[in-house]
Amino acid sequence: MTPIIILGSGGHALACLDVIDSTKKFKILGYVDAGEAQSWEGLTRLGSDNDLPSLMKDCSNFFMGIGQIKNASVRKNLSEKIKQLKGEFPFIVSPFANVSPRAQVHEGTIIMHHAHVGPGSQIGSFNILNTKSLIEHGVKTGSFVHVSTAAVVNGDVIIGGDAFIGSNSVLCHGIEIPSGAFVQAGAFIGRKHVW
Ligand SMILES: CC(C)(COP(=O)(O)OP(=O)(O)OC[C@H]1O[C@@H](n2cnc3c(N)ncnc32)[C@H](O)[C@@H]1OP(=O)(O)O)[C@@H](O)C(=O)NCCC(=O)NCCS
Repeated sequence: MTPIIILGSGGHALACLDVIDSTKKFKILGYVDAGEAQSWEGLTRLGSDNDLPSLMKDCSNFFMGIGQIKNASVRKNLSEKIKQLKGEFPFIVSPFANVSPRAQVHEGTIIMHHAHVGPGSQIGSFNILNTKSLIEHGVKTGSFVHVSTAAVVNGDVIIGGDAFIGSNSVLCHGIEIPSGAFVQAGAFIGRKHVW
């Protein structure tokens, strides 16, 4: 089992913990956050961001459990800091997700329960492909993209970095979503959409 430390202990971290546990591939050593509680979900709080250099001596693998709706800056800054310290971010795939062997997934990304990733897709680093999201064939995503629960990203869509794709939204096939875009829950985004 690969040792790993979770960053954060909020709602998204809890969902990530569940997925990481379900893979049976990682030994979670504990978590890091700014709170005062010393334990969470049976895990030990290992310290705050300030303790990262010393924690790195025992474990170089981390998972970003901080969520992303309004913007990706907290996730970006922290992951950058950890990478400068030579930390690594394995990608995580739920055993209940269906990821084509013809898809590529990059570091720090999590593919949550019941998500689907089709062939030819290239999923960037630090993405959240949330529960039941559907990513069809040939989709390309930049870094720090969050595809929310049950969103549908149809074939050959390109999603720029830092974009947020809300729950249950539908992206028409072949379109391009600009970097940093916010697609609200339930939206339909077609070819004529004006950003
Ligand atoms: C854009 C967004 C943040 C706006 O939400 P909001 O702040 O609640 O919006 P408002 O306060 O202006 O809501 C005004 C009304 O529109 C409704 N509304 C807001 N967003 C809506 C949406 N996407 N679809 C349908 N109705 C919506 C609200 O329920 C509210 O209804 P009411 O007047 O009957 O009470 C929200 O639509 C959204 O997309 N959130 C992201 C949710 C999501 O995907 N989370 C990810 C989970 S993994």
